[in-house]
Amino acid sequence: ALVSLRQLLDHAAEFQYGIPAFNVNNLEQIQAIMRAAKGTDSPVILQASAGARSYAGEAFLRKLVEAAIETYPHIPVCMHQDHGASPAVCQASIRSGFSSVMMDGSLLADMKTPSSYEYNVEVTAQVVQLAHYVGVSVEGELGCLGSLESGQAGEEDGSGAEGVLTRGQLLTDPDQAADFVARTGVDALAIAIGTSHGAYKFSRKPGGDLLAIDRIRAIHQRIPATHLVMHGSSSVPQDWLEEIRKHGGDVRVTYGVPVEEIIRGIQNGVRKVNIDTDIRLAMTGAMRRAMAAHPQELDPRRFFRDATAAAEDLCAARFEAFGCAGQA
Ligand code: G3H
Ligand code: 13P
Ligand code: ZN
Repeated sequence: ALVSLRQLLDHAAEFQYGIPAFNVNNLEQIQAIMRAAKGTDSPVILQASAGARSYAGEAFLRKLVEAAIETYPHIPVCMHQDHGASPAVCQASIRSGFSSVMMDGSLLADMKTPSSYEYNVEVTAQVVQLAHYVGVSVEGELGCLGSLESGQAGEEDGSGAEGVLTRGQLLTDPDQAADFVARTGVDALAIAIGTSHGAYKFSRKPGGDLLAIDRIRAIHQRIPATHLVMHGSSSVPQDWLEEIRKHGGDVRVTYGVPVEEIIRGIQNGVRKVNIDTDIRLAMTGAMRRAMAAHPQELDPRRFFRDATAAAEDLCAARFEAFGCAGQA
């Protein structure tokens, strides 16, 4: 059944587990996630980025998710819009049938100035008002996503007019989070705690102090009823990087967020864990391997089948690790 984000995360909070929110763009990714959810008896968050919506089109995404719900009627599914850039985008998704939307007011805003904070509050509160009116949940974002590698601000995200941001400036401020939640009424809040989007998060193998766990705990204490979201949560599996390289791919040395670190985040209040890159790596690795192994194969289903199976294994591992298995 289609359920809202609030319904899923309230249950996750009550029973102290985390739910992976997987990005989807096509049939194979949705099938992989649903098969893994069925195999592990897990609730599902399928999320579509702006890129996904322009790649597949909103109607195709809607119909694919409908097909997933029809095929697996016992699994609760939230259809979530990832990183909405404006209230208009969120409104379009709500009309299209999404049960949850993210209004990312930190996308356009330069969060270092007071006026950009006011802008974020204003657009997010606006989306909450229209979404809650029709039972749709809302995720907001506060902070500046960027890696804390070596205690440094992220290269792309961390440099502003006053130069590189300090660790304190880069992380979400607990007092501001409390104010933001009070003024917007969001169901979930994406926070900056040391992660960043994409495959190239860390250039060296990260240690155990990657995430700002103290900060997660402090924010969670201030806004216990608002569910914390961790973006940029791919672990960037080294074996899939190797597989991609072995079959002609060109990937630099790179590391992601270790699964154990994500589990520490969940233990301290994170409930929604966004993962896109890991599914991409598994599917690309499996496809490259299958194409190399079967050079005479002309039916792309042979390659898609392997890619889907690889993504299914990855999703099942995350459902298990985050304590989501058995909770559907
Ligand atoms: O938030 C970022 C996601 O990984 C979506 O990426 O815009 O390439 O679909 P995309
Ligand atoms: P990754 O790039 O780490 O998979 O993060 C995805 C994400 O945060 C989508 O919103
Ligand atoms: Zn994100």
